[in-house]
Amino acid sequence: MIAELSPADKAKFAAARRAVDFVEDGMRLGLGTGSTAAWMVKCLGNRVRNEGLKIRGVPTSSRTAALAADCGIEVITLDQAGWLDLTIDGADEFDADYRLIKGGGGAHLQEKIVAAASDRMLVITDPSKDVATLGAFPLPLEVIPFGMETTRRLVERVLADADVDGRGTAFRKAGEGLFVTDEGNHTLDLQLGRIGDPEGLSAALNAIPGVVENGLFMNICDVIVIGHEDGRAVTRQKGKGGEEETRLDFAEEDKLFQADN
Ligand code: 5RP
Repeated sequence: MIAELSPADKAKFAAARRAVDFVEDGMRLGLGTGSTAAWMVKCLGNRVRNEGLKIRGVPTSSRTAALAADCGIEVITLDQAGWLDLTIDGADEFDADYRLIKGGGGAHLQEKIVAAASDRMLVITDPSKDVATLGAFPLPLEVIPFGMETTRRLVERVLADADVDGRGTAFRKAGEGLFVTDEGNHTLDLQLGRIGDPEGLSAALNAIPGVVENGLFMNICDVIVIGHEDGRAVTRQKGKGGEEETRLDFAEEDKLFQADN
């Protein structure tokens, strides 16, 4: 199963598998959303079954909640948890300053609330998402349905004065209709190409009343694990220079997953 994954999925798996080594008994965890985070939830489920690891997880989307429950992880709400020891989540882009674009899966609002309520945020990713400057990936905004076209015009005014290369905006579609988030809102994707001042742009966008939250994550992420298709996982930790590299044996992981899933 693992050995037969596509190279991209092997890289995601390698990052996810390495990330669950950071999880300790008794932890309250934020569980991210997306294809990389889904591997992390499955790997955590294996640790719960095989080692009797005791953890409680706060999912960042209804999709992750369903998967976590399927994997035997005790699911609680953020308010039941109060505070979290660690959040593990994916990202669409990351830069050398641990700044991220998230929200490709439409869950960045819950993801940011959960990450902000955690002692540490660990991001699981792959080399394709490592960028010198954020912005090639469309920046998502979660927008309230009421007055959404007016909100879009206000966003375009902010972009007119912003240090960006592109200014396209598009409400995200799902089939024939608009994509609806778990909170009942819509997602406005901004095609910016390059974001020269992520902090300034984030503050200006979040000051628009109809914008609930944008997908820029700054001063939140502490650890980045970059998975590679050959099983390597490279870990960068904020405040610690250098990188640490480990390597997975896909054949061994295969045995674990075949026995358990
Ligand atoms: C969801 C997210 C995801 O973490 C991000 O889109 C990365 O997803 P994937 O691991 O599938 O590439 O922010 O809102």
